[in-house]
This record gives sequence, C-alpha cells and structure tokens, in this order.
Amino acid sequence: MKLKVNGSEYDVNTELDTPLLWVLREDLGLVGTKYGCGIAQCGACTVHVGGLAVRSCQLAVGEVGGEITTIEGLGTPEAPHPVQAAWIEEQVAQCGYCQSGQIMQAASLLLTDKNPSDEKIDRVMSGNLCRCGTYPRIRSAIHKAAKSIAGGDA
Ligand code: FES
Ligand code: FES
Repeated sequence: MKLKVNGSEYDVNTELDTPLLWVLREDLGLVGTKYGCGIAQCGACTVHVGGLAVRSCQLAVGEVGGEITTIEGLGTPEAPHPVQAAWIEEQVAQCGYCQSGQIMQAASLLLTDKNPSDEKIDRVMSGNLCRCGTYPRIRSAIHKAAKSIAGGDA
C-alpha cells in the first residue's frame, strides 16, 4: 500500500491491521514517535492524519485516510513549527519521552482553536500523559505558540 508521510510517498508492504505506529517506527525509521501504552491511553504515539491528532498505536495502517505528519515533518531545525519554537523557548521537555506526542497534540489543537483557554488546553491535552509533570510549561508554551501564530511571526 502507499502512504504519504511528511510530504513523501512510501510503498509499504505490511498487513492492513498493523498499527500505524509500527509502520512509522519499524518500516520507515521515523522513531520520533514513541510507544508508551499501546492502548490509546498515554498519547506518546500521537501523529497527525489530515492535520488532526490520532493515536498511531491504535490506528490500523489500512484505515489511514489522509496524509500523515510525524514530529520529523512538523518543522525543521531551521524553520521549526511555532509549537516547537515555543517548546524550546519555554524549555518544556524534561526526560523528553512524551514530548513528540505532546507537541503533535498541541499543534493539532491550535489548528482548531487559535487562542485556547487554560481549561481548553488542560482538557485537550489531558490524554497526553507526562510522568515528569511538565504540564505547566506545556500550557505556557501553547499560549506562546498561539501568540506567535496570531502575530504572524511563524
Ligand atoms: S502508545 Fe499510543 S496512546 Fe500510548
Ligand atoms: S518529559 Fe518525561 S514523560 Fe514527559
């Protein structure tokens, strides 16, 4: 089957019920997306399909219905996505394991809500667990990214 990931097209030879996460990591080598729980409960495996956040551990590759974006394709070191830039400025990451999923979830949130409230951020991000407790910095970084996007500096 063909998959479009981060702007490139790939031929993937796998069972249709293989979780997308496995294809990304094992077949395509995109290991920025992490395996946490495997049961859609932690958010570590979050990627975008058609711009919206999905849990790739529980999405069969045969059910993917749009272009996939992973953390590797969200921005570049030279031109980071506003969420990535805000994450760096706020020094959000601690151990880092959950952070690609957090960033992908946050970027998806800002596509649908340009100026989310604290309550909305907490609600939308509540499915992305962080054992290091970086939640206050995640919230600050999302506000910073929202301002950056609104100001057009991204
Ligand atoms: S690994 Fe997918 S939600 Fe936890
Ligand atoms: S930064 Fe360590 S689990 Fe989130």
